[in-house]
Amino acid sequence: MQQVFLFLHMLKAQSIQKSYGALQILKGVDLEVSKGEIVTIVGASGAGKSTLLNIIGTLDKPDSGQIFLNDLEVNRLNSKQLSAFRNTNIGFIFQFHHLLAEFNAIENVCIPAFIAGTSKVEAEKRAAHLLNKLGLKERMHHKPNQLSGGEQQRVAVARALINNPALVLADEPSGNLDSANARDLHELFVDLRDEFKQTFIIVTHNEELAGLSDRKVTMKDGLIVQS
Ligand SMILES: Nc1ncnc2c1ncn2[C@@H]1O[C@H](COP(=O)(O)OP(=O)(O)OP(=O)(O)O)[C@@H](O)[C@H]1O
Ligand SMILES: [Mg+2]
Repeated sequence: MQQVFLFLHMLKAQSIQKSYGALQILKGVDLEVSKGEIVTIVGASGAGKSTLLNIIGTLDKPDSGQIFLNDLEVNRLNSKQLSAFRNTNIGFIFQFHHLLAEFNAIENVCIPAFIAGTSKVEAEKRAAHLLNKLGLKERMHHKPNQLSGGEQQRVAVARALINNPALVLADEPSGNLDSANARDLHELFVDLRDEFKQTFIIVTHNEELAGLSDRKVTMKDGLIVQS
């Protein structure tokens, strides 16, 4: 089944360079990821993994080089077009989930859908479906401080998926989970890919997750050394 998607590039990053002051962080990174592929990025602290992920996700701009998402060169979009593009095409899962403390689980999940103009009824229906699938049926009306760490992380996963993004980017998504919750989350990514054909790029220090992925890419000193 996977082979069907092998020649469709979800992401093409070409010669990406990024410096902060005199420090060159990315030194010409090339990365291609196919639709439906789960790619993990590993490498030592400071290698440039989060910097690359933020650039792929259009949260940050490269100094030079191009990012193509589904053949669209995102550097060409203005900031308003970019926000709309990002909200509907890319789901972000951060290590620290950044849930909004004053909103409950289902409200947090609905926010990106509201921003995309989805009706309340439709957004809540989809949010409830995702939370149910993530084992949070009985926790929908809990606020973040009434949820465990693993539950909060799963709410953040549902929020990342609410607009059915083609590309899901995760930066150490299991970094603050215990091993059982981390394993569940990793298996969930594989299930979601199988069900929805979403593409995942996941930065991780977790070898087990890297082992579950289709491809492991290693970064060292601002370059991909093996892919
Ligand atoms: N906004 C910034 N200003 C200056 N330097 C930065 C900035 N963001 C990142 N850096 C530097 O860029 C380098 C790469 O950072 P990055 O966050 O991409 O590393 P990483 O591979 O994700 O590491 P970790 O595994 O610790 O999360 C680091 O040395 C960091 O100090
Ligand atoms: Mg990082």
